[in-house]
Amino acid sequence: MSRLIVISNRVAAPKPQGEGGAQGGLAVALSAALREYRGVWFGWSGNKTDQFTGHIDFERYEGVTSATIDLEEQDVDEYYNGYANRTLWPLFHYRIDLAEYDRSFAGGYERVNERFAETVKPLIEPDDLVWVHDYHLIPLGAQLRERGLQNRMGFFLHIPWPPSRLMVSLPFHEGLVLSMLAYDVIGFHTEEWLDSFRNYVQRELGGHCDADGTIHVGDRSVYAAAYPIGIDYKEFVAAANSAAARTAFDRLKKSADGRRTIIGVDRLDYSKGLEERFLGYRRFLEEHEDCRGQLFMLQIAPPSRGEVHTYEIIREHLDELSGRINGEFAEVDWVPIRYVNQGYGREDLAGFYRASTMALITPLRDGMNLVAKEYVAAQDPDDPGVLILSRFAGAALQLKDALLVNPYSKEELSDAIHTALNMPLEERIRRWRSMNECVKQEDVVWWRHSFVSDLEKVDIAHRGTRRHDVPSLAPQPIRP
Ligand code: G6P
Repeated sequence: MSRLIVISNRVAAPKPQGEGGAQGGLAVALSAALREYRGVWFGWSGNKTDQFTGHIDFERYEGVTSATIDLEEQDVDEYYNGYANRTLWPLFHYRIDLAEYDRSFAGGYERVNERFAETVKPLIEPDDLVWVHDYHLIPLGAQLRERGLQNRMGFFLHIPWPPSRLMVSLPFHEGLVLSMLAYDVIGFHTEEWLDSFRNYVQRELGGHCDADGTIHVGDRSVYAAAYPIGIDYKEFVAAANSAAARTAFDRLKKSADGRRTIIGVDRLDYSKGLEERFLGYRRFLEEHEDCRGQLFMLQIAPPSRGEVHTYEIIREHLDELSGRINGEFAEVDWVPIRYVNQGYGREDLAGFYRASTMALITPLRDGMNLVAKEYVAAQDPDDPGVLILSRFAGAALQLKDALLVNPYSKEELSDAIHTALNMPLEERIRRWRSMNECVKQEDVVWWRHSFVSDLEKVDIAHRGTRRHDVPSLAPQPIRP
């Protein structure tokens, strides 16, 4: 079996779960996927260094090797805080109003992708499968091809792909997308993001798409498909049945004192719709005076990307809004929102999910959203809670038996909370069973098999040698 080389910006140390923190879905999903392979996971350590040397720190755990590098402060500013999180993240989440375009960001992004390519290339053996992840590293494949790498190489995007009319607001967008043609397989979470990508390739690059999923631009071809990511179902169910989860369950139940809990768990990010969620809940409290004091919202929101201004602002807004709603409605013995800015380990979360009457997962735009799937997996089959899910999360295309809502609509959120509170047990069980079946079948193992087996099918002999010029994202004339 070939080794799997996973490359992503963030690398979660492949050690046992349950240690808390604000790990995103990508990190959690990949730890699970790599355990089965003799995998190497390469990426940024999250630390800074005075001068980039290309030194790699190796750590080994249960057959998985993590290999991390430190980056210079300027790299972190321009690449991670800059192009990745000030430019691409908002744009790809349809927020062109928040996207910032700065040439130094594009330059830093290219430089760090080059540094990744230089450093990881010597670790790659001829038969290895190379799997690059997410928006931080879109041009990495082209950088590796430029350095002669011929391996089968795939790319997976963990966030939405925006409609073409938004994508073209990115300066030198053609260069970014052309660089993706260096991969053999490109994966998205949903058909919706895949359609937008195909549309872009046709409209902006004059390419065409075959019915079998192959995309052609000039003499280049790449296979692109949708692979919805799942959770490590077995492990999560085991976590939900652990002693630590039971303790967390009891802790929440005890403190709830007979009240019902609405739970939300999200990185503190403007794409998660937290302000809109609080306002929808506020609307519910206004409309259903009789329910006040009988339920509360537990919103867990570990801060992230704190050096990026838009994240400072959303944090301030949420502090203010949660305080205002609490001040407006609280009684001496009841507070409507428990707003918690720390992360919890998966056992704790599993216990909290199980103790909650409903989950309110209402991102304004989300590539997939694994919290929704974790909530389902953690439920008691005989008395499951209700999932209220944004129709703009990738997960909504699979979890059709959730209460699907428009996260911008206070009325819809309020109505959904009311429906969930009053949903008969039989209906809760029926909806949960169908969602649970999907979460169980289409888990992270299924996701990884689907992607990796498509990558393994790539016929290198037929494909021929791949060289790739790296199109520039910096301000130069656009190449034809
Ligand atoms: C999303 C992205 C991941 C990222 C995670 C956490 O899930 O798709 O690539 O790792 O958010 O964000 P952070 O900036 O803390 O790595």
